[in-house]
Amino acid sequence: MQIIETEHLILRPFREGDAADLFAYLRTPTAPCFLSLKLADLAEAEIEVRKRALDEGRVAICLKQNGQVIGDLFGGTGEDEKDETASIGWNLNPQFSGQGYAFEAARALLDHLFRVKGFRRVYAYVEDHNKPSQRLCEKLGMRREGVFIEFVSFTNDDEGNPIYENTMQYAILRSEWMSGATAIRHPLGMTGVAGTETSSYGV
Ligand SMILES: CC(C)(COP(=O)(O)OP(=O)(O)OC[C@H]1O[C@@H](n2cnc3c(N)ncnc32)[C@H](O)[C@@H]1OP(=O)(O)O)[C@@H](O)C(=O)NCCC(=O)NCCS
Repeated sequence: MQIIETEHLILRPFREGDAADLFAYLRTPTAPCFLSLKLADLAEAEIEVRKRALDEGRVAICLKQNGQVIGDLFGGTGEDEKDETASIGWNLNPQFSGQGYAFEAARALLDHLFRVKGFRRVYAYVEDHNKPSQRLCEKLGMRREGVFIEFVSFTNDDEGNPIYENTMQYAILRSEWMSGATAIRHPLGMTGVAGTETSSYGV
């Protein structure tokens, strides 16, 4: 993906040198849906970074001030991307939550998916207990479209039986994004075709 610049952040592909920052938050993933990504040590983190560097849909969220990777986003590639539909997701190092960085990053990625990649619909799956993620979807202008009861399992109970999660789907259409309050206002004429290598998104 192209590099995206926002007020405080750089969104870019993963690259060599990111392992320690990735390990800092994937040594103990907080959301059940990311438990399978848990990394045992720095060596595993290096392998994961190499994998992510080849994945067009994986985006490192970096602080502009020092280049630190503080989390990641995904969106715009994957098996279920059809009918001009993309899924989106986020995972922030908890040390950096509550500062508006997730919103700043997700907003820029959504704008990129609609405006540059031309997706028609973007959705996110969120577990019913994950209030920060629901709040983020809502701030992005996404609509809660439904709840799938006992939709997916990420963990087992003590007897080895799967614990199923109730999963919400949030979504927003390109037409809604472009006319809504959350969309990033671009200079006149910049309406949506892939352009330069770097995009700057104001807030
Ligand atoms: C979900 C997740 C990305 C949300 O991160 P977050 O930091 O809470 O989200 P935001 O960037 O929207 O910031 C939230 C708060 O920062 C505060 N904040 C502080 N400074 C701010 C600023 N300059 N601008 C905006 N908000 C600011 C706001 O009060 C905001 O709270 P509000 O939503 O009540 O207004 C994060 O909790 C996370 O990574 N969780 C673990 C992984 C996960 O659950 N992923 C989703 C699986 S479905």
